[in-house]
Amino acid sequence: MNVSQTCKIEITKSLVSKINAVDFENLSFGSVFTDHLFECDFKNGEWQQPVIKPYAPFLLDPSSRVFHYGQAIFEGMKAYKDGSDAIWLFRPDENFKRFNKSAVRMAMPEVPEEIFMSGLNQLLQLDKAWVKKGSGNAMYIRPFMIATGGGVIANPSTEYKFMIILSPVTSYYSGEVKVLIAEHYSRAANGGIGAAKAAGNYAAQFFPTNLANKAGFQQVIWTDDATHTMLEEAGTMNVFFRINDTLLTAPVSERILDGVTRKTLIDLAKSENINLEIRPVLVSELIEASKNGTLKEIFGSGTAAVVSPIAGFSFQDIYYELPKIENTVALQLKNKLTSIQNKLEEDKFGWTVKI
Ligand code: COI
Repeated sequence: MNVSQTCKIEITKSLVSKINAVDFENLSFGSVFTDHLFECDFKNGEWQQPVIKPYAPFLLDPSSRVFHYGQAIFEGMKAYKDGSDAIWLFRPDENFKRFNKSAVRMAMPEVPEEIFMSGLNQLLQLDKAWVKKGSGNAMYIRPFMIATGGGVIANPSTEYKFMIILSPVTSYYSGEVKVLIAEHYSRAANGGIGAAKAAGNYAAQFFPTNLANKAGFQQVIWTDDATHTMLEEAGTMNVFFRINDTLLTAPVSERILDGVTRKTLIDLAKSENINLEIRPVLVSELIEASKNGTLKEIFGSGTAAVVSPIAGFSFQDIYYELPKIENTVALQLKNKLTSIQNKLEEDKFGWTVKI
């Protein structure tokens, strides 16, 4: 993957840096942003001159389509700093491909690879002091595109803004994660936009997730919309289950996001000789396995969530607690993944890309 600086970007540097005001020891996920952002507009059928400029609010026409029809997509990626201060992206090609798949599904223009990759590269170079090294530290990268064309007629915009912003992060979840299995609400349906990283997929989850939060659960595991019998994904992560010694995860589909961390863990599990089945996982088998003691682990996977163990789940008002195990598969895979991402062990898969 070529993330070299092939595209000419106009750079305006910030006169002052906010970095000294940031408490890097106590970051709340995604709430602090670096000094600069990348921006490229789409107008008159083509991408315009890309720029990097100081991070700041910007003006939009109140009739912009993004506000009325939700034409908006995004990606979540991370960069890491190794022991020699080199910065590495993790599988940027996967995020780039998925971004453009989402763009196509949402009737938005695809972003050329050189704009996406040069933007990432040059923005990270400029704000590299913000990338902290050490286990658990990363730069969360948020590429996104919004429809900026004005007019409330319900058709796709002809103007768009593609941007990249950077946020130094540590962990997404602090503390135990308990989940509620959805019985009524759905995240996605066949033929819908579940496989796209569309902003609306997340907005649609906020109300049911708020209800789950009020009941003491951090996340919802979504089930298929038609029967609510198959376990699909959680809002911020894909999900894995371990029954006895077999790891299970649902196949990606029109309803499930093709998670980059998910596919990475699948490859790592194979290379670690862990039994793995990619197949529909039923709510009923999870409950049965919990009752008979064969359910050992549930964990989520995602760029933000990394590998997040789940302490227990609730279904139809019954709470099922997971056993407390020391050497979990979640931990084994998380250690493998983060060692590769932080360049602490050889990346025989070729997933890490130096900027
Ligand atoms: C990510 O893991 O990057 C995501 O996009 C999830 C997000 C809701 C934090």
